[in-house]
Amino acid sequence: MAYNLINLKINKKTRAKNIARCKEKGIVLPTFKNMIDPQTTPADIKKKLAKTGLWDVDPVNLFRITWHNEPIERGGGFKDVNFVEIPKEITGTKARIIALAGKWFPCGVHKVGATYSCLAPALVTGNFDSVDQQAVWPSTGNYCRGGAYNSALLGCSSIAILPEEMSQERFNWLKTVAGEIIATPGCESNVKEIFDKCHELDAERGAHIVIFNQFEQFENYLWHYQVTGSAILEVTRKLKIKPENVKGYVSSTGSGGTLAAGDHLKDELPWIKIAAGEALQCPTLLRNGFGGHRIEGIGDKHVPWIHNVRNTDMIVAIDDQDCMDTYRLFNEPEGKAYLKSIGLSDAAIKDFELCGISGIGNMLGAIKLAKYYELTEKDVVFTILTDSSVMYASRLKELDQKQGKFTDVEAARVHSGALLHQSIDNALELGYYDRLRVHNLKYYTWVEQQGKTYDEIKAQWYDPEYWKQIPANMEKIDKLIEEFNDEVASK
Ligand SMILES: Cc1ncc(COP(=O)(O)O)c(C=O)c1O
Repeated sequence: MAYNLINLKINKKTRAKNIARCKEKGIVLPTFKNMIDPQTTPADIKKKLAKTGLWDVDPVNLFRITWHNEPIERGGGFKDVNFVEIPKEITGTKARIIALAGKWFPCGVHKVGATYSCLAPALVTGNFDSVDQQAVWPSTGNYCRGGAYNSALLGCSSIAILPEEMSQERFNWLKTVAGEIIATPGCESNVKEIFDKCHELDAERGAHIVIFNQFEQFENYLWHYQVTGSAILEVTRKLKIKPENVKGYVSSTGSGGTLAAGDHLKDELPWIKIAAGEALQCPTLLRNGFGGHRIEGIGDKHVPWIHNVRNTDMIVAIDDQDCMDTYRLFNEPEGKAYLKSIGLSDAAIKDFELCGISGIGNMLGAIKLAKYYELTEKDVVFTILTDSSVMYASRLKELDQKQGKFTDVEAARVHSGALLHQSIDNALELGYYDRLRVHNLKYYTWVEQQGKTYDEIKAQWYDPEYWKQIPANMEKIDKLIEEFNDEVASK
């Protein structure tokens, strides 16, 4: 049965308003094809990018929503996909672990892609009024950064919602772009409080806002399926990795967006294992559990609506202390000196700047998967570094205060404990009924609380066409974007 998973119904009146707005501001929108292969970017835009900073609030940066940005702060063009292979001295695995790097997206986070993917279809169909409505970005971290940033590029007003305990860096930067910032109670895993705030806003402001809820919007799934999935496949071709040696993909669940790249990989390479990561301190998928944790951005205490659980082969629950310790190892001077002493080059040590806390969590998940399946030197596991170390400098100071100064002894302990001896504890390979158990958890959030239907939650599990229909939306959206751009460009 066909479900209307992405709303592409045209509202002519609002679409015309959006066209007028983009005309006035000289805005051209990138298509998915541009994001997958940015060499297709129009020449005049490439010229402008040569003079534009990566984080500048300039609409031309919409074309930098791609994994291919040249890794420089200003004026960069498009190169190969940004990725890093984690040295084996760090992973301790026989298998290679390769991670795509999100640092080189505008505003330093890959979530800028998922937010664009939610906003662009609404803009070109007229389901969001860029003149008279505010875009609401409910988030456990970077999604509202990306959303507020994209809204600013398009000249529309935004509301960023995020938990009050998120890092100070996030709040400071948001103040420079978001129209309004709303801090919800609690930490990272307090997603329910974020949903409650959305309902409250909806009741108060109704027609004046559009809520782009990443946890349920299939545009988020679509972006990662198409853009992140294609980028990973491109890396396999560049490195001449034989398809049969790509054995795994690991991503924290977060909103379920990044995980969707795994569905693309599995469509091409059906043997791969997909592992969904979460924090051990909040083991919702592993144990129907709950709790607060410090892996910023990965939420939990619920299963996102857009998580295709039937495709998930393993759960890896990561101790947030391992993430914080490794973050210190990669960033404290004593940590870097230790890494040099074990033979890592300056360039390899600098590459660890590409790792934010959840990226480290993903790396640890990839180590678990590689060890669990006893992968060999020929094998490769892919994962994602969603943002980078720069986002969390204030956490270093806090950890200094709480745990004492980071020393070379501490560095050796972290290296051998959190990394080399990262074990297969808290990694659960999922059988049919394990997956069904996880899928069934969706009922309490989505059907009981958030208005999804009984039929649809059943379809997610029993109807093989349900998930398959999503990727085809890319062509339809691209056509709508092209038509929109043509009208913006016409006299
Ligand atoms: C730092 C960080 N890591 C991981 C994630 C999870 O990504 P996704 O929502 O695509 O699952 C997010 C999401 O906001 C994030 O901000």
